[in-house]
Amino acid sequence: MFAVTAARVSPDAPLAALHLGDHPEPSPPDGWTTVAVRAASLNHHDLWTLRGVGISADRLPIVLGCDAAGLDEDGNEVVVHSVISDDSWRGDETLDPRRSLLSERHPGTLAEKVSVPRRNIVRKPPELSFEEAACLPTAWLTAYRMLFTRARMVPGMTVLVQGAAGGVATAAIVLASAAGARVWVTGRSEDKREQALKLGADQAFEPGARLPERVDVVMETVGQATWSHSIKSLKPGGTLVVSGATTGDAPAAELTRVFFLQLSVIGSTMGTREELERLVRLCVEKDIRPQIDRTLALADARQGFETMLNGEVVGKIVFTI
Ligand SMILES: NC(=O)c1ccc[n+]([C@@H]2O[C@H](COP(=O)([O-])OP(=O)(O)OC[C@H]3O[C@@H](n4cnc5c(N)ncnc54)[C@H](OP(=O)(O)O)[C@@H]3O)[C@@H](O)[C@H]2O)c1
Repeated sequence: MFAVTAARVSPDAPLAALHLGDHPEPSPPDGWTTVAVRAASLNHHDLWTLRGVGISADRLPIVLGCDAAGLDEDGNEVVVHSVISDDSWRGDETLDPRRSLLSERHPGTLAEKVSVPRRNIVRKPPELSFEEAACLPTAWLTAYRMLFTRARMVPGMTVLVQGAAGGVATAAIVLASAAGARVWVTGRSEDKREQALKLGADQAFEPGARLPERVDVVMETVGQATWSHSIKSLKPGGTLVVSGATTGDAPAAELTRVFFLQLSVIGSTMGTREELERLVRLCVEKDIRPQIDRTLALADARQGFETMLNGEVVGKIVFTI
């Protein structure tokens, strides 16, 4: 089958490790099912894999991709939940120490077919296109869990989203706004800040800008470049939720502020199958649709990877088959 794979690791030039071409079809174990992929979306995770972060060389080559929507073996329209927990695990799948995401241990979604445990299949409602549904399982699910499960955001709070245009950031803007928050964002360019306002942000600032007042919640995926600003932007008792460190993992910890202002710093990763089902329902009931930057044929995936690597994305890049 046609697939997009990480052929090797290439820390400094990730696209040098990208391979498009023929790859063996997945061979599902008992209890797994195979989905014919109709649409899959790109995540920063795919760039990390090409750089060799979160994967060991003995697992390569591996099919990239965490997100997919397609048809199951009975022809039902489905969305794939990407968190693969151990067969014996019960409860929140993201807390299973042996869990992995598609493309870490098992072949990913940037291919004609992907196999997953049957419990990882969620029904795709007809209101969502395959392209829209394929944006939900990673970036959107992560933003959903960060906001509602981890930060316990409630209407009327002020939420700062660091980074205006990324997959998780755009999802956070739309979801927080839909849930009644006052949403402030930082973005690196005027264009991205404008896009954020169109998505529902109330105000957009340059990175590091002094805000009109301190906020209740910060959504942090950028890491080192924005960490100090995130901590300094929180009101006493505020909550920072972090799910990514795109720009680096060694910022000043700002410990004095953390204890003196009694801040909560909370980690978050992906989301449960149940959270994905709720997110899908929320999108249908409240007419919410993911911001799609562009849709490309899977055969043109390299162009999408280049765009993400250059930081030129507003929302999600989707590949169709
Ligand atoms: N833990 C999890 O489960 C989980 C799930 C999803 C993602 N993540 C992580 O979260 C991060 C974002 O993922 P994504 O898929 O949303 O990536 P993406 O679409 O490539 O977005 C990158 C984001 O980072 C911002 N950014 C990049 N460099 C920056 C800099 N130097 N200064 C300020 N902002 C900068 C961008 O802001 P601008 O808008 O200003 O360009 C943009 O919002 C990645 O590190 C990813 O691995 C983790």
